[in-house]
Amino acid sequence: MRKKITVVGSGNVGATVAHRLADKQLADVVLVDILEGVPQGKGLDLLEAGPIEGYDVRVKGTNDYADTANSDLVVMTAGFPRKPGMSRDDLLKANYDVVKGTIEKVARHSPECFIIVVTNPLDAMAQTAFKASGFSKNRVIGMAGVLDTARYRSFLAEALNVSVQNVQGFVLGGHGDTMVPVPRYTTVAGIPVTELLPKDKLDTIIKRTRNGGAEIVNYLKTGSAFYAPSAAVVEMIEAIFRDRKKILPCAAYLEGEYGINGLFVGVPAKLGARGIEQIVEIKLTAEEQAALKKSADAVKELTDIIGV
Ligand code: LAC
Repeated sequence: MRKKITVVGSGNVGATVAHRLADKQLADVVLVDILEGVPQGKGLDLLEAGPIEGYDVRVKGTNDYADTANSDLVVMTAGFPRKPGMSRDDLLKANYDVVKGTIEKVARHSPECFIIVVTNPLDAMAQTAFKASGFSKNRVIGMAGVLDTARYRSFLAEALNVSVQNVQGFVLGGHGDTMVPVPRYTTVAGIPVTELLPKDKLDTIIKRTRNGGAEIVNYLKTGSAFYAPSAAVVEMIEAIFRDRKKILPCAAYLEGEYGINGLFVGVPAKLGARGIEQIVEIKLTAEEQAALKKSADAVKELTDIIGV
């Protein structure tokens, strides 16, 4: 039987996730939104692309959560978008209400599903979804690290004029201005990047990575990035559905790992058929550990405000 994925939110991120899922034939897709007509129209349009693209998956748009019943996985993209000049954290309270209300409905209709959270501020919204669903921690995952790392890898590949596939690395911490790219563990075809780029160049790339979301918002003016975010979501889903045991940076609920307790923060996590199957703990220098703590503290400030 085909898997079923619900995508909550039919904006640019949600619709592009649905598009990529259909193209890859990963699952039947239900696109759900409170907006009337938009999910139905986009869902039908995607269904009608099937004969041309050659996919048989069903895509359906709806306003009714009954249609989402028994999903294997739910992608939470709904929420207010970020406007220019607005930090991800400004979105906090507005999106808390959206995520809490939505995830309670999702959990009732799909008690066995995995949840991937995309709504910002990412780590605090992942924590909101975790608490609102009551699901085990392996089933609630925040998407941000894959996106932030993709930005980091893109900029490094550009600077070195090499294939993006040669560039491996990860970004730790919250999906915010305090995120922590780790050059010491970044390699280009197996060569530490610190051997290939001078520190000032690396620092510039790290700064641009931290500002990656805002850079796109400043161009688009009326919305935020969606091509790279949706690609990141789909990489995570593929890792889970195909049981790849793929280590990807994800926002995960930590219980002591990296010295952080009771909080969603971005760390390398192994994704497979059981969702987050392992948090990969690596040795950090005192400086890296301090940067991660600072980032976790920034997330904690937000979760304290909303009380999750
Ligand atoms: C980004 C915003 C959406 O990183 O957080 O693109």
